[in-house]
Amino acid sequence: MNQLITAIEKLKKEKHAVILGHYYQQGEIQDIADFVGDSLALAQWAAKTDADIIVMCGVLFMGETAKILCPDKKVLVPDLNAGCSLADSCPADAFGAFIAAHPGHTVISYVNTSAAVKAMTDVVVTSTNARQIVESFPKEAKLLFGPDRNLGNYINAVTGRNMVLWDGACHVHEQFSVEKIVKLKEQYPGAVVLAHPECKGAVLKLADVVGSTAALLKYSVKHPRKTYIVATESGILHEMRKQAPGTTFIPAPPNDSTCACNECGYMRLNTLDKLYKCLKDETPEVQVDREIAQKAVLPINRMLEISAKLGL
Ligand code: 13P
Ligand code: SF4
Repeated sequence: MNQLITAIEKLKKEKHAVILGHYYQQGEIQDIADFVGDSLALAQWAAKTDADIIVMCGVLFMGETAKILCPDKKVLVPDLNAGCSLADSCPADAFGAFIAAHPGHTVISYVNTSAAVKAMTDVVVTSTNARQIVESFPKEAKLLFGPDRNLGNYINAVTGRNMVLWDGACHVHEQFSVEKIVKLKEQYPGAVVLAHPECKGAVLKLADVVGSTAALLKYSVKHPRKTYIVATESGILHEMRKQAPGTTFIPAPPNDSTCACNECGYMRLNTLDKLYKCLKDETPEVQVDREIAQKAVLPINRMLEISAKLGL
């Protein structure tokens, strides 16, 4: 493994490449990445890098976002099959029909969408900035939000808005078991429950803190506790344990104990070996249709501009 890491580091320098990694990647990929972050941070990093090659260790929509922001750079994802069940729950043609059925609505899309969905969107959001971006619209604005119904319901509840919601979800975050979290709380008295807003409402009700992966990480480091129960993809525990070594972090279990649904199978398709091969061969490369990219860049840039103004 050490040899592989040395070879990746060497190729990276030779090719003037940057490795970006999401918190849901396996630990060894997070450790070799130049930058590890949530969806917003990865887009912000991609927008400002001067590297010739961006290796996006995450899922395809993250690679597409980087490519849309940097059309002249080579963007690689170690395994192009790294899709996203949430993005897949929102096919562009059906979403287009949904928008047409709600004339006069501003379209707000979660970043977990295809480039084609972003191309029909007014502003993109991530879980880090969704609340503030929604609140930047007047109270009476007619808003349509997709594709995550859990995040949409959560934002409606905390902002008092009544956004029309697309009925999509992430198979990982939908799977957390309320009963098992309650049992863990009994087993670890005083444990604090952290949950990502893509979780079902019943899990969010049980949570002490709701936030994006970056927000949950920040909270756990800023508020040292004996035990945290973490209801989001378990990859984040790697960075939590690094930054708060004295704390016990327990991943929240999924409903079906025979399935490791608190790991995103798509994210885990990327491996160190595939990372090495993709840097060596400069493939597989992310491609986005030029016309779609020219439309999709507008709502992504709008998100980045609002986020910069908000200091996010
Ligand atoms: P964030 O990175 O915005 O927390 O989103 C989580 C997620 O599901 C990424 O696929
Ligand atoms: Fe998509 Fe869910 Fe995996 Fe994130 S964790 S990439 S939302 S399937």
